[in-house]
Amino acid sequence: MRTAVEKPRKQIYSNYTEEDFEVWKLLYEKQMHNLTGKVVDEFTAGIELLDFKSSEIPNFEKINEKLITLTGWSIKTVPNLAEVDLFFEQLSKRRFTSTCWLRSMEEFDYLEEPDMFHDVFAHVPMLCNKKYTDFFYKIGELATSLNDQEAIKMLQRLYWYTIEFGVLQDQNDIKIYGAGIISSVGEINNVYSKTAQIKPFNIEEVLHTPFEIDKVQPRYFSITSFDELVEAFEQIEKHFKTYLNA
Ligand SMILES: [Fe+2]
Repeated sequence: MRTAVEKPRKQIYSNYTEEDFEVWKLLYEKQMHNLTGKVVDEFTAGIELLDFKSSEIPNFEKINEKLITLTGWSIKTVPNLAEVDLFFEQLSKRRFTSTCWLRSMEEFDYLEEPDMFHDVFAHVPMLCNKKYTDFFYKIGELATSLNDQEAIKMLQRLYWYTIEFGVLQDQNDIKIYGAGIISSVGEINNVYSKTAQIKPFNIEEVLHTPFEIDKVQPRYFSITSFDELVEAFEQIEKHFKTYLNA
């Protein structure tokens, strides 16, 4: 039986071990290679703006300084995957909940819960983009204004099919922007396989399509630009008004 090890609640940079640096380096190099030509330009721009590199585990203080200037966002460190309520509440304050620990070498290819490679490498570069963060903030703002479990479930689906598993149709190519795909080789391969279904983004369908965790996604929803997400929000708010008044 695995014994639960308490995870750090804040980043103390000097506590990272040689193994942590090695894990970061290997994961970073492997995933940057796997993402070549497959990820949206906004992600690559974020990596450059934040100066992420394989030789250095990102420092949250430095990330926050840059993010606040770029989009007004910051990272809120949490020991483990945040509960839904806390996660949405933090989003409504333009804060992204993130772990600050890394998997061990033994867990290199499979991890039961997200570590900072998923949270920081895959999510944080996108937080440099204004349109993306405007959309992300609106999910949190709407979620905290609702007191209805079914409505929250719908917003979780919206989050799942965009922020975690979203793809973008770029002329004839499919590009990835969802963090759940960015941090997983299996998901990247799946997006480009013939078995995965890639459907055009449709808000009603997204809100009503349940998702499953812990397995490769059978479907993805594809946007044509980040403007589409921002513009979709009007429709989303209308949907919730109708739903809540029904
Ligand atoms: Fe995530």
